[in-house]
Amino acid sequence: MEAELKFEREKRSGVVAIGTYLFDAARRLGVEVEAECGRIGKCDSCAMRVKEGSEFLSLVTERETEHLNAGRRKNGERLSCQVKVEQSGEITVMTNKKKEEEKPKDEVQTEEYRKQFEELPLEKKVASLLELEAITLSETFSFVINSPSHVVSKIMDVMAQFGLKLEDDDKKAKRPKEHKTEAKAPTAKTAANSGSAANGKTRRQNKKDNSDNNQE
Ligand code: FES
Repeated sequence: MEAELKFEREKRSGVVAIGTYLFDAARRLGVEVEAECGRIGKCDSCAMRVKEGSEFLSLVTERETEHLNAGRRKNGERLSCQVKVEQSGEITVMTNKKKEEEKPKDEVQTEEYRKQFEELPLEKKVASLLELEAITLSETFSFVINSPSHVVSKIMDVMAQFGLKLEDDDKKAKRPKEHKTEAKAPTAKTAANSGSAANGKTRRQNKKDNSDNNQE
């Protein structure tokens, strides 16, 4: 012998054998039911309302009377772990709404900050973003300071090289435009060569001057 069960909220239905508890029938049909007390009739987490066909179910137990007040019982509520199908027929059940799952604290806080930020006027939004940027920068420096010494020294080298390049570029940019195409500074070798060439020219010039003087 069987009974037909329908779970309205979840839109699930099926046939169950006589003697099946509503709790088991629900789970078999894919309906999630809580069981805080472990199905021993000492809570009301598995309660559901029988809308039609209550006459095909077992009578209200003592535990149900303890945990469901008269108003709820009158409304057709039963503890599903305490009530079984006893006769063939059609039974329609409405499960209670699930309690909203608690969001993790961090998620709640982030959502609050997001809402607060959205409500800020534009200039305050910009100010907040700048402040955030400053915090991020200070955290970066704090990371550098707290890093092992070899890491810090490597970072400082890179920063120093970068700083020197900036300084050099800055100097070049400030030069008069005529100097900007200036050839590279002579190397030691080219300087020596040009020095000796200059000396040779001076010697030749002196010799010529002397001979001119003698002719006079
Ligand atoms: S699970 Fe606690 S009364 Fe049914």
